[in-house]
Amino acid sequence: MALLEGRGVAKRYGGLEALRGVEFAIEERQLVALIGPNGSGKTTLFQIVSGLVRPTAGEVRFRGVRITGRAPQAIARLGIGRTFQIARPFPDLTVLDNVLVGVTFGRAGRLGPAERRREALGGLELVGLGTKAGALASQLSLGELKRLELALALAARPGLLLLDELTSGLPPRGREEVIAFYARLRERGLTLFAIEHAFRPLLVHADRVLVLDRGELIADGPPAEVMASPRVAEAYLGEEDD
Ligand SMILES: Nc1ncnc2c1ncn2[C@@H]1O[C@H](COP(=O)(O)OP(=O)(O)O)[C@@H](O)[C@H]1O
Ligand SMILES: [Mg+2]
Repeated sequence: MALLEGRGVAKRYGGLEALRGVEFAIEERQLVALIGPNGSGKTTLFQIVSGLVRPTAGEVRFRGVRITGRAPQAIARLGIGRTFQIARPFPDLTVLDNVLVGVTFGRAGRLGPAERRREALGGLELVGLGTKAGALASQLSLGELKRLELALALAARPGLLLLDELTSGLPPRGREEVIAFYARLRERGLTLFAIEHAFRPLLVHADRVLVLDRGELIADGPPAEVMASPRVAEAYLGEEDD
């Protein structure tokens, strides 16, 4: 059974069809890229998965259970995490304390203080911030802040992580560094569904890529195959890959 499945997902905003009959299935322990030109419906699809937007038609299933119609908090509790839903790190708290806040309010909240601390430190290690645990969040570089956001999302112990342009604002090298951690998290058993506008570094690691164009899913497959598709090239005509 697929971990996440979309069936005929459609979203209409007045006269605009933001999504049209989108069908997809994501297997466990995969890193799946979602790409497409600006305005093609990527964020809308994530909002539907996480319960912030109700589709006009269709449904989403997580571990076989219909989640469409459930509240965002209920969907998060089932194990779907996302980065941009989480509050920005508290600048005057240490990196470790920021993650401890997340752990305390997440699914590990019932653990004792020592276990919570171990869980928070483990999350920081996973995103390469182990040595920064005692630093104030305000002292982090932008790339480190992005990785702290990843650690905060992990604190909720998700099975599936939705990442909507987490690396935006970073220079190319910084993007590559953050995206390398997506691959590491997948090796740890997590499933990741990631949107990136500058998608090249993501496609280096992705198992699969889905392409949206004007609300329609126009390709779905291994990155090399999908990027060789004339239809995908056509969708990106005139778009800058920054
Ligand atoms: N709340 C909204 N109300 C009206 N139109 C919206 C709303 N959210 C998104 N849209 C429109 O839906 C389309 C898809 O948007 P979005 O999912 O944000 O695209 P992407 O993330 O691929 O850039 C765009 O044309 C956008 O303007
Ligand atoms: Mg978007």
